[in-house]
This record gives sequence, C-alpha cells and structure tokens, in this order.
Amino acid sequence: MKVLVIGNGAREHTLAWKFFQSKRNTGVYVAPGNAGTEHFATNLPNISGLDPDQVIDACKIHGIDLVFVGPETPLSLGLVDRLQEKNILCVGPNKRAAQLESSKAFSKKFMATHSIPTAEAVVCTSLEEVKEYWNNHKKKIVVKMSGLAAGKGVLESDKEQEILDFAAKGLKEGPLVLEEFLNGYEVSLFALTDGDSYTLLPTCTDYKKAKDGNLGGNTGGMGAICPVPWVDSKLLQKMVQEIVEPTFEGFKKENFDYRGVVYFGVMVTDKGPKLLEYNVRFGDPEAQVLIPLILNDFCNLSEAIATKTLKNLEVRISHQTALGVVVASPGYPESYKKDLPVSLPRPNQQQLLFHASTYSANGTVYTSGGRCFTCVGLGDEILTARTSAYSVATSVTFPGAWFRKDIGNRVFGQ
Ligand code: AMP
Ligand code: GLY
Repeated sequence: MKVLVIGNGAREHTLAWKFFQSKRNTGVYVAPGNAGTEHFATNLPNISGLDPDQVIDACKIHGIDLVFVGPETPLSLGLVDRLQEKNILCVGPNKRAAQLESSKAFSKKFMATHSIPTAEAVVCTSLEEVKEYWNNHKKKIVVKMSGLAAGKGVLESDKEQEILDFAAKGLKEGPLVLEEFLNGYEVSLFALTDGDSYTLLPTCTDYKKAKDGNLGGNTGGMGAICPVPWVDSKLLQKMVQEIVEPTFEGFKKENFDYRGVVYFGVMVTDKGPKLLEYNVRFGDPEAQVLIPLILNDFCNLSEAIATKTLKNLEVRISHQTALGVVVASPGYPESYKKDLPVSLPRPNQQQLLFHASTYSANGTVYTSGGRCFTCVGLGDEILTARTSAYSVATSVTFPGAWFRKDIGNRVFGQ
C-alpha cells in the first residue's frame, strides 16, 4: 500500500515512521515532509495540503492508495471532501465535521445539544457583548477566538483592560467565545472512528506551558506522556460515559461521516471532567508518544478507518509507557530563530527522535520552526522512559536549544 501523509511536523514524522513499519508498505510519501522523514520516505516539498488539486495530482502521479491528514487546517478547508470525490481513501473528517475544531461556536453548540459537560460559555460578536459578560462575571474568564488560531487564540485573564484589548483584536477575525475559567488538570483523550464504531486509545497528557512548573506562555505543547499514570479506570469510565459516548451518539444523530481521529481536550475539575474542546486530528506532541504504543499494522488500521470496517479490527496497545520532550528554538513561543544548524544523537532501541519542520542542506540539518524535535523514551516504567527521553533531548544540539526539565515529574512527587 502506498500512503501519503500530509504535514511536516513531528506528529507527521511519527505517522510516516509508523506507516514505514507496516508489512504492507510499498511506499511512504510525505507532503511536504521534513529532514527526518526524508531518510525513509519520499518527501513532496512542493505539495501543499492546503491545495486539494495539488494533493489529487500527487496521488495520481505516485499511485497513492491512502492519505492520512495530520494537521487541522487542510481538514477545515475540505481536503478530505475533495479526495473522497476522487475515491481516494482518507483518514480525516470532512469539512462539515472538521468544524468541531475550526469553529468553537459550532463545537459549543454541539456540546450543548448533546448534553456534554463543558465550561459555561457565550458567543460574542461585538465589544458591547464582551463588556456585558465581563460586568456580569468580574472574575477570571477565558476568551477564545472561534476560528483556528494555532494555539494563540486563547486568553485567560481577570483584567478588564487586557480582556477588552484581546477581544477588540479578536473580533476583527470573527466571533469570540467567552467562558468560565475551569480549575483542574488536563487530559488528552483520543479515539479512532470510522463513523460507525470507535476505539478509544490510551490517555495522554500534554505540557502546554513554556516553563517548568507549568509557568510561562502557552505553547503548542512542550512534552507528553502516554498513558497518564494519574488517570485511573474510574475517571476514565466517567470520561467515556459523560463525554465520549454522547459525542459519538451526537455524530450519528447529526449524520457526520467522520472517519478519522477525535481528540477530546478534557479538564478534570473537582466537579468532574469537562470537555474544553474537540480537535479533529492527533495532538502534537501527543501523537509522538501515543502512536509508538499502537501495535497494529498502521496500513490495516488506517484502511479500516477509511473503509468503515474498524469494528472488525482489534486495536492492540503496548504495555510500555512513552514520554516525549520537545526541544525548541530560542525565543519560542514568541518570535524565534530559524535556520540553526543541528547536531543530532543516534537514538537506541528505546529512543525515538522526531523532527518538526526541519530541512537539510549539504548534509546538515537546519531548524525552521519553533518546536524543532520531539525526543521520545519508551520504557516498562515511566522513570526509564523519562531517562531515555532526556538523554536524547540533552544530545540534540543547536544554538539556544531548550526544553522543559520537568516532563513526568508529577509522578515522582516533584
Ligand atoms: P482550547 O483552544 O479551547 O483548547 O484552549 C487552549 C488551552 O487554554 C487549553 O488547553 C487550556 O489549557 C486553556 N483553556 C481553555 N479553556 C479553558 C477554560 N475554560 N478554563 C481553563 N483553561 C482553559
Ligand atoms: N497538543 C495540543 C494540540 O495538538 O492541539
């Protein structure tokens, strides 16, 4: 089977790496890919997932059997709809279902219709409405742009002026969602679905803040663990009953033809789990720790999702733990340096090194993004996974490279 992965991040490197291991692999292509994927796959640097015509042409030229769409933007623009019209198998929801991520106004309405617990929220389209909401609450709230904002569209604040300034800017792009601030800890839950049945994958957690101790600015994610040691079976069962099941029932009632990955961003509060958001794809860096633990042949699994035969397949998961540490460029999550030459270690059997938007020139790898690498350690215990991951992270060297030092610490009471 020939597979095309859309994207250039560490998540897509992980997907391509997993497809490469399939017994059915007769070619892995990545558009546009990075300096990590070029070692075992064919990068298509001039093909953009944002242009369905380019992707369709590439599928024809290379005889692609299945497309796996990594990031949200091509999904929200309807790439899957166009590929399905051409009878190309795809993993990823169509444009209508992708609104669950691309419009927070849409997803909040879906949650309300299907009684899924979430933060209380209102949609505002004017500054007057924002002021009115603030005047009625006057405590820490969360202001979110309704559309895709690559993790930059959220403000948590209890300062009127800061809220109004953020809102004034955000309203230029579209409606805003204002909601109560929820205290708790976050869990990322992933399910694979073919629209008829679903399979839940092990729990993940993502370290979203830039600095140790969960301080500093929001990032795309600086580290991850899978499975999460502090989520017990009772909590998992509650999340399934109150959030996952009603979501898939809602998909059926609303006739979503959803064949792909559903990401539930859950806040565990003292009043129970609440759904913060849906994403319509794997998380990054969660994919880098979750996918290595899936034991199934990835061509078989992806084909089952795309052809609505998932119920015939048993998803098998490794007993190991995976821990990932993201190595970032100096300045990230604010403006950051690019084109930095990198020296990379050679990972051992229990270590994985995934690139994010790197490129190579004359035999040297260069950075070109903010989050540059995810270093993953695998182990029977989280402690060994952690040691393995950090030994890779400390050996990835480029000027100003940095990473959080506390991924997984909570487990050790730190
Ligand atoms: P979202 O785009 O909805 O995932 O929000 C991005 C991040 O902002 C989440 O992962 C949380 O860390 C934080 N966040 C969003 N909504 C809330 C909320 N209602 N209460 C507390 N934190 C939130
Ligand atoms: N790790 C958060 C995300 O992928 O949205």
